[in-house]
Amino acid sequence: MKSSCFTRASLSSILQPVFPPRSNPGRPVFCSTAVRPKPRTPLYLRPPAFRATFSELQKWHIWAKNKATSVGPTFSDLDNGPDSALLHRELNWLVEDAVENPNLIRACLDDTAPVWLRACLEELYEVWRQRIEERRPFQYVVGCEHWRDLIVSVEEGVLIPRPETEVIVDLVDDALKRNEELRNGGVWADLGTGSGALAIGIARVLGGRVIATDLSPVAVAVASYNVQRYDLQDKIAVREGSWFDPLKDVEGELSGLVSNPPYIPSKDIDGLQAEVCKHEPRLALDGGANGMNDLLRLCNGAASMLRPGGFFAFETNGETQSKILVDYMDAKMKGSFCNTMIMSDFAGIQRFVTGYRT
Ligand SMILES: C[S@@+](CC[C@H](N)C(=O)[O-])C[C@H]1O[C@@H](n2cnc3c(N)ncnc32)[C@H](O)[C@@H]1O
Repeated sequence: MKSSCFTRASLSSILQPVFPPRSNPGRPVFCSTAVRPKPRTPLYLRPPAFRATFSELQKWHIWAKNKATSVGPTFSDLDNGPDSALLHRELNWLVEDAVENPNLIRACLDDTAPVWLRACLEELYEVWRQRIEERRPFQYVVGCEHWRDLIVSVEEGVLIPRPETEVIVDLVDDALKRNEELRNGGVWADLGTGSGALAIGIARVLGGRVIATDLSPVAVAVASYNVQRYDLQDKIAVREGSWFDPLKDVEGELSGLVSNPPYIPSKDIDGLQAEVCKHEPRLALDGGANGMNDLLRLCNGAASMLRPGGFFAFETNGETQSKILVDYMDAKMKGSFCNTMIMSDFAGIQRFVTGYRT
């Protein structure tokens, strides 16, 4: 899972940023008897159970390189999509994940020498065709994304976590360092958890418990799988339901609350890069007419869900949404929150709104 100068963890930055009935309260969903979609095992974790010859693998590799080259600047000119150079890097990563000994691809072996693969050759032909012809995101092809120091499982139906969202973990960490009361534990929530990346990220810096919620059953299944992979079942419970509905048992008691909700204005979605608008779930993207529907709902809910002194961090589309949110808190919800601040992401975009419940 290594990469060259362009790190795999930064791959998702080529995707346009996402400005762009409680089933079993209090318990991790995978401990319940609810039937959930079974998450897909990421390619790099599958056993190398498929045998091919060296010449068959070479033939596939040459075909895949030619397909990547044929794209040229077409996708980047069209919608800021990947160019050939990036697709060639992705192909290297696909080889690293799919071939038991990826160095063999550059070796000089006998044509009939056996190579062991984590997917059969037919699947490798098909997924690379999908990557190029259907613009299926690379992360869905390999079934994972590198995010902070995690490798989270992702698949269709779940948003691929973006690099800018990594900052929320640092914001939580900073809040804990500055505020002794917050360090005393308590329950936190990650609302709209998707793959569970953010819940896992904050659980590892917190002393307390995290409840991660999502309306999407696929997201709940994938987040539960990732929580299990990082052995955090004791710290993170994943619950299915809309925003605060699955959190009635902790109303007014949350020590902290984070969320990266859908915030893209509905009319902008079709103009996004094909990898995003054709393949990522609309439920994860669409924030209504001006993109603010869910942010405002979360803001209203935070006032009743957080305990006094409780911390919140919300991700937004950028400057305008952040400002609308802070103005809303200061004017319409006067007295509910204090120390509201707008914080920037790595690119200097005013992406996050943080503050405390009074
Ligand atoms: C922008 S994605 C963020 C996913 C994840 N937190 C991340 O940063 O990668 C928004 C998430 O909110 C979820 N969502 C949308 N509407 C919801 C609702 N009414 N209640 C709970 N979750 C919802 C979506 O399924 C999606 O997983």
